[in-house]
Amino acid sequence: MFVVVGVTGGIAAYKSVHLVRLLVKAGHEVHVIPTEDALRFVGLPTWEAISRHPVTTSVHDDVPQVRHVALGRQADLVIVAPATAHSLAKMTAGLADDLLGTTLLATTAPVVVAPAMHTEMWRHPATQANIATLAARGVHIVGPDDGELTGGDVGPGRMVEPEQIVAQALALVHPGDLDGVRVVISTGGTREPIDPVRFIGNRSSGRQGVALARAAADRGADVTLVAAHTDDGVLASAAGLTVVRAGTAAEMLQAMTDAAATADIAVMAAAVADYRPDAAADVKLTKEDADGPGRVLELVETEDVLKTLVRSRRPGQTIVGFAAETAHGEDLLERGRRKLHRKGCDLLVVNAVGWDHGFESDANEVIVLRAGGDVVAEASGTKRQVADAVWDAVVAVRAAAR
Ligand code: CTP
Repeated sequence: MFVVVGVTGGIAAYKSVHLVRLLVKAGHEVHVIPTEDALRFVGLPTWEAISRHPVTTSVHDDVPQVRHVALGRQADLVIVAPATAHSLAKMTAGLADDLLGTTLLATTAPVVVAPAMHTEMWRHPATQANIATLAARGVHIVGPDDGELTGGDVGPGRMVEPEQIVAQALALVHPGDLDGVRVVISTGGTREPIDPVRFIGNRSSGRQGVALARAAADRGADVTLVAAHTDDGVLASAAGLTVVRAGTAAEMLQAMTDAAATADIAVMAAAVADYRPDAAADVKLTKEDADGPGRVLELVETEDVLKTLVRSRRPGQTIVGFAAETAHGEDLLERGRRKLHRKGCDLLVVNAVGWDHGFESDANEVIVLRAGGDVVAEASGTKRQVADAVWDAVVAVRAAAR
């Protein structure tokens, strides 16, 4: 999703760094538009680094791109946090003397405003009248919270915490089409122990599964994330969700069957080992105790979690599998169709992986097949965009089955 974050000149601007980070981590394309005053609190390099996009305050930069209206036009969502008393007055009057002002006039996207100021300024009739006007125009006002303010005084005026602003803002854009739906999603790569210090693992980072979990939660679902090994920092985007750890294929089987027993939708996005050492050694294997120059590891097949879920499927439950394939084009599709048939799930998300794509990156490209083999969606982009496309397909298939 294309999100514009306007930052105006209040001390709470430092909290908006975290707000931008949350949105970026969740896979959104975020463009920050600070006011000149905001830059006195947090400098331009911080906003550029955190949003990964160039940042400017002025309508006179980047003129050939018609930047003063381009960001507003492209936005799916605009958040102004913190919004000072002054910026609320400017918004109410429709002033457009900087890039944030022009963007707010050019956009038709939902606008979410998180006021932050001292209690007296918040309570002033001028501010209250501005808030009432903005709300009447459809602007969504989040907060302010009641609490300790910068000068040590206490009262309404604190900016609402970034997590809450993001959750409320996203809820506006997402249709809530998974409201109250219980979803369990597996993610990451399992590790099958060889001995106390070694394992058989894979390159799955867990990013796509976490993006699916985040997207489902933003759309109203009650999410349980069953996480095998994930890359550093990946689980930060799962803050606030129920996370169950499952290190091995056997633990994944247990955790997924437990959670699926009460779930409406189960998604197997984890890379589960197909084989594991027959028995993990109790002590570290050494070259000394090997019987020759090589070593043979006896591997046995792991239980197929997806097939097990399909076998014990509850009435009305939707089961989604993933297929990571190194094939391309028609071959990729054919392999996907065969796998879908073998696994018996309702939807299969097929993605091409290779030495340099699919795993550790932030981008992904998938084809979604439904039982029978029809392509119901094709998506590419950030893992968050792919996640939303997968949920669109799941919601459509569930609606058709009703
Ligand atoms: N899967 C599973 N349990 C396993 C292995 C895989 O639940 N023991 C699930 C994966 O989470 C994924 C789907 O099955 O949703 C397909 O996984 P993939 O590795 O692509 O297929 P495999 O069944 O392992 O077949 P192959 O590796 O031979 O292509």
